[in-house]
Amino acid sequence: MGALTDLAGLLRCPVPHHAGEAALAPDGDGRTLGCPDGHRFDLARQGHVNLLSRPAGANADTAEMVAARERFLAGGHYAPLTRALGDVLADLPEDALLLESGAGTAHHLRGVLGAGPRRGLALDVSVAAVRRAARADPRIGAVVADSWEPWPVRTGCLDAVLAVFAPRNPAETARVLRPGGVLVVATPEPGHLRELRESSSLLGIEEGKVERLREQLGAGFDEEEVDVVDHLLHLDPTQARDLVLMGPNGHHLSPVELAGLWPEGASTRVSVRVARYRVRPPTRSRG
Ligand SMILES: C[S@@+](CC[C@H](N)C(=O)[O-])C[C@H]1O[C@@H](n2cnc3c(N)ncnc32)[C@H](O)[C@@H]1O
Ligand SMILES: [Zn+2]
Repeated sequence: MGALTDLAGLLRCPVPHHAGEAALAPDGDGRTLGCPDGHRFDLARQGHVNLLSRPAGANADTAEMVAARERFLAGGHYAPLTRALGDVLADLPEDALLLESGAGTAHHLRGVLGAGPRRGLALDVSVAAVRRAARADPRIGAVVADSWEPWPVRTGCLDAVLAVFAPRNPAETARVLRPGGVLVVATPEPGHLRELRESSSLLGIEEGKVERLREQLGAGFDEEEVDVVDHLLHLDPTQARDLVLMGPNGHHLSPVELAGLWPEGASTRVSVRVARYRVRPPTRSRG
């Protein structure tokens, strides 16, 4: 039995119009997950399940981008970020249940599970990413799903949600968290990878990201703790290209353009804001 058969109790059927939430559970042969109304979803050979009702769109990371992410992160260059994520989640219960939205290869999710009995769901709209996430750790269940749509996750069952350079859905996050649960968001600071962006025509970082984040989360969450991960990276040509290919520029750059970049390698600063938000209890209207 894989991680997903153990974690299926956290999932709900993605087919709309169920009266209430229809839990998913493994069928007898362990090859599918099913709901009480007879909807069935195959467990892939790699261990993940696809709960998307349509093919993934252009926002999904490609297989090339995912391979670059796996290579780059395996080099340990973002270990300080994984540590910072772990630090803001240190107070969670030992057996906490987590979810990463836009989890990619689930590198950071695996890192914050630590060595204990924590478990987690990795959601991503990219099948290539979810295949890798399914292999990341036996305590991680990997699901193809779109973070902008209703999540195939049961209400009030998780201790923490992470969004690391990835889409956030505040309403769905608030719904799936237990009372008092937390959302951890990692976003690039204005100076993040500036040297790489300035030495080529790469996409910039939008202005006002923090303000927008606060606006987005203000109604349902309280900001509790903010940390900035800041360090210098010295990269060889392959590492520099992988770092660019695995990010938003990977959707636009051609292999030929990329191959000509940073023939001598590059040094660049990592600068990432890590913030923890606690879900606010719903306010009761006075009758
Ligand atoms: C920049 S990567 C970050 C991956 C991972 N969090 C990490 O830091 O290693 C963004 C990820 O979000 C995924 N993604 C983009 N749009 C999405 C959506 N609407 N729903 C779910 N995942 C999405 C991409 O496929 C990609 O894997
Ligand atoms: Zn169903």
